[in-house]
Parts: sequence; structure tokens; C-alpha cells
Amino acid sequence: MSDPDTPQPHRNFYGRSKGKTLRASQKDYLANDLEAMRLKGVTVQENAARTVLDMTQFGARPVWLEVGFGGGEHLVHMAALNPQIHLIGCEPFVNGVAMLLGKIRAAGVQNLSIHPGDVRDLFDVLPDGVVEKCFLNYPDPWPKARHHRRRFVTPGYLAPLHRVMAPGAEFRIATDIPDYVRQAHEEVPPAGFRLEREAGAGGAWPDWLSTRYEQKALREGRSPHYLTFRRD
Ligand SMILES: C[S@@+](CC[C@H](N)C(=O)[O-])C[C@H]1O[C@@H](n2cnc3c(N)ncnc32)[C@H](O)[C@@H]1O
Repeated sequence: MSDPDTPQPHRNFYGRSKGKTLRASQKDYLANDLEAMRLKGVTVQENAARTVLDMTQFGARPVWLEVGFGGGEHLVHMAALNPQIHLIGCEPFVNGVAMLLGKIRAAGVQNLSIHPGDVRDLFDVLPDGVVEKCFLNYPDPWPKARHHRRRFVTPGYLAPLHRVMAPGAEFRIATDIPDYVRQAHEEVPPAGFRLEREAGAGGAWPDWLSTRYEQKALREGRSPHYLTFRRD
């Protein structure tokens, strides 16, 4: 969701940041609601010195993170279910951000902040050990073998995630891609996380809310897989 007129951040992003034309209501959410909910000081443009964020802006509330929230259904559900928590959601896809803002208006939740961009920019400016739970729901699968290094379950993402998570914090991954499960098993434990729980279809977490991508996977005959890791 970056502005084409401003200098671009220092790393490649291979996903989509724009999709089909936004509806008038979605343009309204972006124009009127995003600024108040947007986490400030995350982008390189806004914080070139990469000064660490002041977490007291969230009061004493624990902070949870959702990476790639898509349409935002799971993020809003978690915010509504856990009013004592502050949730941060990251998503570079502007259509997803607009969908989230619509859901926030409908649900009236206030305990969340949005970074409408790459989670790696957020990692740069989070202090150590502040994220007490992290959700990674249906991450981009990058099916071609030569693209597997773009997946989230690689050291470029896992090392900073480990740094920003609190010792003992939970890291949940949901995916419908068997090869993603394989790579998660191979790469997440060496990054400093212990596998705690693993389940297939029907075995989601008790507080789980099925996402758009899970629904798509189920329609197309793919089976969900749920992994729970704990940061050492
Ligand atoms: C397959 S979609 C799943 C969306 C949603 N979690 C769901 O389950 O419906 C993966 C999402 O991750 C987002 N994503 C990819 N790379 C990201 C990054 N570096 N930082 C934040 N989000 C990212 C994409 O834009 C996309 O919306």
C-alpha cells in the first residue's frame, strides 16, 4: 500500500498491494478511518532512523500480532474476543485493509492498530520481547520450489519474529499447503520455537475463526493444518 511518489523501502515485496477497484464505501473507510488506526513510525519514509516504537501507547495491555490479515475477519474476531489485549495487524494489500476497516466499523472494536504494509518494516521498529501471541493464517504459499525462500517460514522473517516475541509466547500457523507444513517443521524450530501442537481438519484452536482463504481451500478440496509453536 505504498505511495508510488515516495521512496520505496529497502527490501523486496513479491505479493500484491492492489487488487480490483475499491467500492465507494471502501474508499471512504480508507480516507476517513485508516489514519486514526494506523501505527505511526513504522515505514522507512516516516521513520528513517528506525527509532523503536513506544509501546506505552498501548497502555499496559499485552500486544498480539497478526501477519497478513487478508480481509481482517480473524483480526476483528480476536480483538472483540480479547478486549484486554491490543492487536496489531499487518497487511500490504489495500483491498484487504479496506475490508478490515469496514469490519472494524461494524464491530466497533478499538483495541487494534493497523500497519498497512510489510511486517518486516514493523519488525525493524518493535522492541525485543513485546509480542505475546502471533497469528500467521494461510500465508502466501509460493508453490514453486525456486520461490520457497520467499515464504514467511524462513530466517529472514523468523529471526526478527523471534526477537520481538516474548519468551514463552505462542506462534500459530494455519495453512492448507502440505509443503508449507514441511518447511515450517524444518525451519521454525531452529529459529528458536518449539512445536507444541499440531492438528488437521476439525482440530483448529478453540477460539479460531475460519478465514476467507480457509473457506477457499475447503471449497477447493484442500485440508487445513494447524501448528502451534512456542517461543523458547
Ligand atoms: C493467502 S493470503 C491469506 C489472508 C488471510 N490471512 C486469510 O487467511 O484469509 C496471505 C496474505 O499475506 C499478506 N502478506 C504477504 N506478505 C506479507 C508481508 N511481508 N507482511 C504482511 N503481510 C503479508 C498478503 O498480502 C496476503 O493478504
